[in-house]
Amino acid sequence: MKVTVVGAGNVGSTCADVLAHKEIANEIVLLDIKEGFAEGKALDIWETSPIASYDSRTIGSTNDYSKTENSDVVVITSGLPRKPGMSRDDLIATNAGIVKMVTENIIKYSPNSKIICVSNPLDVMTYCAYLTANFDRNKVFGMAGVLDTARYRSFLALELNVSPKDIQAVLMGGHGDTMVPLPRYTTVGGIPVTELIDKDRLNEIIERTKFGGGEIVKLLGTSAWYAPGAAAAQMVEAIVRDQKRVFPVCSWLEGEYGMNNIFLGVPVILGKNGIEKIIELNLNDEEKDMLNKSAEAVRNVMNVLDNMQLSV
Ligand code: LAC
Repeated sequence: MKVTVVGAGNVGSTCADVLAHKEIANEIVLLDIKEGFAEGKALDIWETSPIASYDSRTIGSTNDYSKTENSDVVVITSGLPRKPGMSRDDLIATNAGIVKMVTENIIKYSPNSKIICVSNPLDVMTYCAYLTANFDRNKVFGMAGVLDTARYRSFLALELNVSPKDIQAVLMGGHGDTMVPLPRYTTVGGIPVTELIDKDRLNEIIERTKFGGGEIVKLLGTSAWYAPGAAAAQMVEAIVRDQKRVFPVCSWLEGEYGMNNIFLGVPVILGKNGIEKIIELNLNDEEKDMLNKSAEAVRNVMNVLDNMQLSV
């Protein structure tokens, strides 16, 4: 299996590093526009292989897409990250042009790949990649829910002093402050979380989750990479190993949840065909209301992209 990661910055190189350490693909191509950058990162990861004992090959490329030929999965991480005070939506003008160009090059060499978009603003950059690739909707999707639920689960694990492995959760909606964590679908070793944490405290944890990306930006002056890179790698693994994992994934909706023609985070089954099924939950009125609000926020930014007329 061959996986390409476009963008050798913090998120992309972390993703490639996790893919190599877990031997998720035997060939991992890291590509960047900055001269020598991807080659340097790929070489550093390769030089770790005797120590960490893996044999995935990591290959770097400065903007030469022919090296990405016949990739099974492509992760797009290119674009600027957030600076303090910026929202993810502030990045749209710059990052849309980049994601469009990257996608055009990717589909030229890997017309049968699955594309996972990680660039921000996530839902809308995934839309940009989807319009550009013109692939079936099961083959172009975005990484956000795996990261956002990971943050939520990690905070719950701290609160309850339990292993994060035992916390299962669903989170829906856009990758922004309107994301919709669902306490009704959150369990701790099978026990509903609402039996273990009172409502007010749970709400505080949910609020922290919604602004989890911003919390890191404030601390570091740039956006996160360990969890985003690992989250993208976990999605790649589900596809490459045909694991049929159930993850929240930013997906193109055609009638699901009463919505059409929008990218939004929903629970799906992820396997060798990409999104193999979108799972429709029976949301209650309050949850539906939150999801609709989140969809509205995403749609506003989608409209900005549409009006930019990038000729996609
Ligand atoms: C975050 C960025 C990657 O949530 O969107 O950290």
